[in-house]
Amino acid sequence: MVLNSVTVTAPAKLNLALRVGSPRPDGFHPLNTVFYALNIRDTITVEAAETISLSCNHPDVPLDESNLAHRAARAIAEHTGTKAGARITIDKRIPIAGGMAGGSADGAGALVALNELWQTGLDANELHDLAAGLGSDVPFALLGGCAVGTSRGENLTPIDTCPLTWVLVTSSEGLSTPAVFGTYDAMVPHAHEPAPVYEIVEALGRGDTERVGALLANDLAAPAFALRPDIRATFEKVKDRASAAILSGSGPTIALLAASEDDGRRLQRELDDDGYVSLVASGPAAGVTIVEERS
Ligand code: C5P
Repeated sequence: MVLNSVTVTAPAKLNLALRVGSPRPDGFHPLNTVFYALNIRDTITVEAAETISLSCNHPDVPLDESNLAHRAARAIAEHTGTKAGARITIDKRIPIAGGMAGGSADGAGALVALNELWQTGLDANELHDLAAGLGSDVPFALLGGCAVGTSRGENLTPIDTCPLTWVLVTSSEGLSTPAVFGTYDAMVPHAHEPAPVYEIVEALGRGDTERVGALLANDLAAPAFALRPDIRATFEKVKDRASAAILSGSGPTIALLAASEDDGRRLQRELDDDGYVSLVASGPAAGVTIVEERS
């Protein structure tokens, strides 16, 4: 059956633990991290076309080759030799440059959608390898759920987890991931391995949310705060409103752990009244999911 369009959704993520080592010879940092997929999803639609083009409903998303959806199309074309084109449309819901892997979600979504549209027949391993070539967070967007990530984040082991609700305090200005890693290196210049994450993995498996909250850890928080004192100030102001708080990835989004969906909504209302922009999200959520195919 020849398809004319395929629509998928792809999740945002949080890192419940993000432990960083000193940089490898290739410049990437070895990580021990716990990824957790959230029910905030971008929708990516691909339609048959002569050439590859990209559009998005959010004006700040780059539409050139730096967009991971664009690079996903190139990666499949190079890997399979297909000459097909596609019109790619992104419906953006994940905060931009927020440390929630929104760009990676679009890359992962485009890989799955284009593999269907172009009938290139890539299996899960091939998609994983192409995803890892696009970026460290892209393989987890394919997988979803909850997983430990090692190496530069692309080496994934799924783990058991409990449902968790978060209130995400967003920032209107993004943070550059390479700049945060660079500041980390300046702050922690000695050679070191990333700290282990087995304690939080064990707490997630037992569904011990109090212990999960106590074990949230992000080595990129200090360098992100050094680059953005305003985010440190916001973090200090909001963290005690919830049982636990963490900076998401390389920031600047701040995630507050809520006791329940109701508690999350109450907290969101309070934050909105005080002028913050926030949204409620829960997980674990599925990885990239095909929602519609049209012939
Ligand atoms: O892999 P990705 O393209 O998402 O990485 C973006 C940037 O973040 C890299 O160019 C690098 O500067 C930094 N990074 C890193 N170590 C990692 C992941 C990302 O230094 N494990």
